Amino acid sequence: MDVSGLEITGGVPLRGEICIQGSKNAALPILAACILGEGICEIENCPRIDDVADTLAIMQRLGCRIRRSGDTVRVDASGVDRFETGGEETARIRSSVLFLGALLGRMRKAVLPLPGGCAIGARPIDQHIAALRQLGARFFLEEKVTADAGALKGGRVRLAMPSVGATENAILAAVTAPGETLISPAAREPEIDELCAFLNGRGAQIMRTEEGGIRIVGVRRLGGTRYRVGPDRIVAGTYLLAAAATRGQIEIPEFPHQELGALLALLRRMGVTVVCGERALCLSADRPIRAVPYLETAPYPGFPTDLQSPLMAVLCRARGESCICETIFESRFRTVPQLQKMGAKIQTDSRCAVIKGIPALTSASLTSPDLRGGAALVIAALQANGSSVIQNTRYIARGYEDICRDLGRLGAKIRWIEEE
Ligand code: EPZ
Repeated sequence: MDVSGLEITGGVPLRGEICIQGSKNAALPILAACILGEGICEIENCPRIDDVADTLAIMQRLGCRIRRSGDTVRVDASGVDRFETGGEETARIRSSVLFLGALLGRMRKAVLPLPGGCAIGARPIDQHIAALRQLGARFFLEEKVTADAGALKGGRVRLAMPSVGATENAILAAVTAPGETLISPAAREPEIDELCAFLNGRGAQIMRTEEGGIRIVGVRRLGGTRYRVGPDRIVAGTYLLAAAATRGQIEIPEFPHQELGALLALLRRMGVTVVCGERALCLSADRPIRAVPYLETAPYPGFPTDLQSPLMAVLCRARGESCICETIFESRFRTVPQLQKMGAKIQTDSRCAVIKGIPALTSASLTSPDLRGGAALVIAALQANGSSVIQNTRYIARGYEDICRDLGRLGAKIRWIEEE
């Protein structure tokens, strides 16, 4: 079905149980890692999202044989015989940069256009290049990124900051490089632990160190494996915030709640009841939401930048004045003008947004500026008086399998608008 947008009628408290799709930011590096070595890999609970579809298209062009049945993707990388990704998919998604490390690890050579992704900042790849250079890769940067590594060699990889993608790229290149590699500071996001678990299941030797680094002992080859991707913590966090915004009550079964520690602690400070039970994570927002006097986004385990826009949508109707400072990306407030169209009282400077809570938001015709900004507009529309329409929902489809299906299951009045 070709859709031109979403129509949402606000005012309905979300209620019920919701299962969460597989993690986008775990599945993407794991798929890139499938091209390391010739074994067959079966990735279960792989989310059906556009970024995964684009990644699979890149893998097929490199020579992988891909078979998808339900939520399982089967990858046979024995036929990988190319080192140039090409294609518009590479320029569309940020995670295509991970093919740098994966192709150096497999082919000892890589040629990629500069990666794409949501316009939330400059998103340079200097740390990726610095990390791979420290493993012996040489780079030639014209309009494309060309890298070759006659002989990748394990060693010390120093990062200037705990970049998620640069940590992943260093792991992908080091895992079959002879010798021992120490990456630090290494990003601590759970998605990196999933990548390491997947690779260790193939025979790699990767472990986290006490000092917050990642140690790798290079192995000669990797076998196949079957791996089940964990649930997406950002999708789960989005739905928890949507339930809080609509004063609802939801349950998320079988969810590793420790992955959302910072969000759950914040929700409790906002007056939301959160219970981490054996079977499920339960949220109930039956009281007015309190404002958040000051919050900074931070690398894991801090408050995730990917939930900053969804949180802002909730704070538009909180009691009092909130301040959120975005420390990870330099232009991640692109949802603000759209929220202001709904009556939200928000002022921003380069890094911080001050949100004055108001009693009600007004429905409007909205345009999604990026993936998580689109999710934030959905949360705003769910609590607004009247019906809102959100265009550019293709951004949302990059990370959410079917936000309409999921929120509809929780009672939301939401539908896709079909393309005329
Ligand atoms: C990953 O992006 C995620 N994407 C992002 O999720 C997430 O917001 C981000 O990590 C932070 O958690 C995927 O995993 C596919 P970074 P990544 O390298 O790897 C700067 C979503 O909505 N930087 O940790 O690109 C960079 O500009 C997406 O699902 C450099 O300066 O994040 C940013 O300011 C959005 N040079 C900061 O570091 C570099 O070489 C963090 O970036 C690399 C990064």
